[in-house]
Parts: sequence; structure tokens; C-alpha cells
Amino acid sequence: MEEANRHPFLKGLSKHRGAPPTAIVIFGASGDLTSRKLIPAIYNLAVDHLLSADFFLMGYGRKPIPEKEYREHALTSVDSHSRRPLASDIWDRLEQQIFYQSGGYDDPEAYTALADRLDALEKKVGRDLQLLFYISTPPQVFGAILENLGRSGLARRNLDSPLFSKVIVEKPFGKDLATAQRLNQVILQQFEERQVYRIDHYLGKETVQDLLVHRFANAIFEPIWNRQYVDCVQITVAESLGVGTRGGYYDQSGALRDMIQNHTMQLLSLIAMEPPVSLDPEAIRDEKVKVLQAVQPLTLDSENADVVRARYDAGLIGGSPVSGYLEGEGIPDDSTTETYAALRLSINNWRWKGVPFYMRSGKRMARRVSEIAIQFKRPPGILFSGDARFDLAPNTMVLRIQPDEGSTLLLNAKVPGLETRTQPVKMHFHYETTFGSNTPEAYERLILDSMVGDNTLFIRGDETEASWRLITPILDHWQDCGPTGLESYAAGSWGPLASERLLWKNAHQWRRPGF
Ligand code: BG6
Repeated sequence: MEEANRHPFLKGLSKHRGAPPTAIVIFGASGDLTSRKLIPAIYNLAVDHLLSADFFLMGYGRKPIPEKEYREHALTSVDSHSRRPLASDIWDRLEQQIFYQSGGYDDPEAYTALADRLDALEKKVGRDLQLLFYISTPPQVFGAILENLGRSGLARRNLDSPLFSKVIVEKPFGKDLATAQRLNQVILQQFEERQVYRIDHYLGKETVQDLLVHRFANAIFEPIWNRQYVDCVQITVAESLGVGTRGGYYDQSGALRDMIQNHTMQLLSLIAMEPPVSLDPEAIRDEKVKVLQAVQPLTLDSENADVVRARYDAGLIGGSPVSGYLEGEGIPDDSTTETYAALRLSINNWRWKGVPFYMRSGKRMARRVSEIAIQFKRPPGILFSGDARFDLAPNTMVLRIQPDEGSTLLLNAKVPGLETRTQPVKMHFHYETTFGSNTPEAYERLILDSMVGDNTLFIRGDETEASWRLITPILDHWQDCGPTGLESYAAGSWGPLASERLLWKNAHQWRRPGF
């Protein structure tokens, strides 16, 4: 197949694909995400020769910063955060393509000035540029930026050509269903859906993309990927870090909004979706939405509630003492924000009816580990059972998202010897051993995809609303309960006892992740 005729996702799987001439405008140009992730990602795309010769980065922020100083700031961010060392020949060229424009986010004149500078760049290179607006600011100014992009005409540039303007919207995408719906309305007043890239950086992780390949490029899984064979599914996204200096943001957010609504829900839809009819972005996103729509409303306030929330107290991480959440910088004494949430979900469709899906995410947990475990039903207790010699574990397929990326299949095997004894064993696949380390960072893939116009790994408007529809009643309920029902766990543990109880009803228990 000719490269030009291939679908964008397939091109992504091939070796080379470059971006069209593009000016990326980053709102929030001196913010933390821009320095730690966005600029290093763009640098690495330059190293891989995936940027057009006519690529430009225009930082936009409120602070007046001389261009020279902004370029130095960009250099420091590459130096400190790039996965590959700085190569002076690449940097010398890229540096000349970096500019800075200061202005208020709600100041229409500043957008006229921005448009003039972008026009001047187009004149300089003698061709149209695709404009890619990356909104990486606090959410309070999302609306002002979107409206001004509309009013200034920047949003609708080149609408009839493939170089139409695009906008990437960072999280948080709303704080509940109503605010997410409102944000979608504001976006769609200025942009068409095909121009909108709602980002969830988990979708850019190699191992998350591999979930689809694992499921649909291997014939052995599909026949058993359903309620006939699967006993339960466990999704864990655990972090050992606390909230650090982000207390102000985090206390308004909490684990449910910060991690579950977006990252773990995305993992759920990829692992549970039906096979899409093609790799077309819409075909994939249609199936993801359907899974979220099939999740049953959760039971919130009985003995048998499907949700658990907790906050970490002081404890030990890697042998060192760490303080509790309430002692953190910027956390109010009367905070009731959860740093851990666990959910038990039922998906009411033909494939999954009756199979519990458990998900949990927390800060200051024993280890940083994200994984999905598909636990299969036990064999009937006829042959190897009822005897201490037979140590049997349920067959489990573990897809390790990070760290130690790879997968493991848990089987039972005979222990060598004259007596018949069994023991669980593991078949491992490690990315690093097979493919080497240094795989692209999520933001490299996502920025490149948005430049080439492939929105497969971005979230559609209805998808984000479907997820908020599930999460919002929980948030409302917790708000009503205040501190009642907020459990605690020691920093460095695997969470509160209540989250163990969540699984006991179905005679399940959480796996010890990473093992
Ligand atoms: C972000 C959350 O979206 O994801 C952070 O706001 C969290 O609180 C981070 O630490 C985790 O991302 P990763 O890629 O380190 O797993």
C-alpha cells in the first residue's frame, strides 16, 4: 500500500511519518507541563526528524519574557527532562524555530497580535501553516482562550484544507458532568469536533496502545475474553509519590477526578470494548463509548457500596518516613479530599454481564505500578484439588503498563519431583528485553498524532461526558457525606482495609501488583 493512502493509525505503525508544516502555539508556555513534557517531546520529535522543516513553536503566556530568555528556558527544559541527551546540531536549528508572545488570555488585542505573528511566519516560509493550539493553562482560562481563538478567526483557519487549525485541550476537562458539558459547548461554538483533541496522556503510553494489539492481533484471547471465562478484572494505577507542590490543585480534585475519571476509565474501555470494525478513529472511539454507557450506576451508600475513598496518613515509603496528606503544602486542615479511590463496576452487556471490574488508584501507595489483571475462572476442583500439595492460582493475564512494561501469564505447573505437587508459575514478556529501552514518551506520540491529524488516541466529547456521567453521582454523594466514610491508610501501604472488603463479596482479593 502506498504510504500516502494508508490510514493515519497504520502510518503510525510504520517507520516514518512526518508532520505537515505546523505552528504550535502553547498557551501556558512557562507552565510546569510545558517544561517537563511538551518542550522535551517536541525536541525528541526533532531528533527523529518528524517535524516539518517549517515547524514553529510559539509560546504564549501572560508574563512578558524576551524571546532569548524563552529559548534559554526551553533549552533548560530539554536538558533536564528529555529522554535523550541534547544534540547541539538539532537544538541549534530548533532554537531558531521557537518564539514567544505575551498577552492576556482574555485580551482580544493580544490575539490579533498573535495572528499577525503567525501570518508573518507564513510569509517568511511562503506557505500556509497548520495552526495547532495547545491549551495547557489552569482551567479557569480555557473559556477565554477558546472564545478569543474563535473571535480572532484563528480557530477557523484553513478549514477547507487538510491544514485546518486544531486545538489540544489538557485536563482537567471539567470537574463534573455539567462543567464538562459546558466546556464541550464552548469548544464546539468555536471549533468543529474534528478539530478538537482532548488529551489523556495515558493513551499515548506505548503499553496502553499495545492493549489493542494484544487483544486484536492475537487469536487466542478473543474466545476467552468474556463472562464465560473471566472471573474478574482488576485495574490498578498506584503511585508512591504524594501530591508534592500541587496541593492547591489536588485538594480541589482528589483521586476520583484526577486519575479515575480519565486514566483508569480509558484503560477500562480499551480492555473491555468490542472489536472495532476497523482502525478508523471513530470506529475505535464508538466502541469505547459503548463500554462506558453499559456500566451500571453504582451503589453508593449502603453496606454494600461499590465505592471506597480514603486519605493517606503518615507512613514509610521505601523505608523513609513521609508525612500524611493533611500535613502537605497548601492542604486545608478540614480537607475531605480523597487520595485513594476504589470502585467495583458492572458492565451490563453480552460479553461482561456478571464479571466485576475493580479499579483503584491512589497516591503514596507501596509502589508506583499501573497494571491490568484479567483473572480467569478456576478449573473445576476435580483432579488437582483438596490437598495441600496442590497450590493452585487462578490463571491471570497481567498487562503491565508501567514500570517494567510487559505482560505476564500466571499458570500452574508441576513441581519437579517424584510426588505430584503443583505451584503457580509465570510466563513473562518484558518490553525492554525484547525491544530495548528508550521508547517514545506519551506526549511525543500525542503531539505528533495531532499534527498529522490522527485523533484515535484522543477523547471524543461524548466519551468524556459518558465517563463524567458515571463519576459525578459519586462526587455528589461524597460531598454530601463530608468526612463521614472517608477511610485512611498508611502511606506506603496498598490502601485501606475497606477496599479489600469491596472484593470479598465476590470472594475476590486484590492482587499484589508487580508480582
Ligand atoms: C496526571 C495526574 O494526570 O497523571 C497526576 O494529574 C499523576 O496526579 C499523573 O501523578 C500520573 O501520570 P504517570 O504518567 O506518571 O503515571
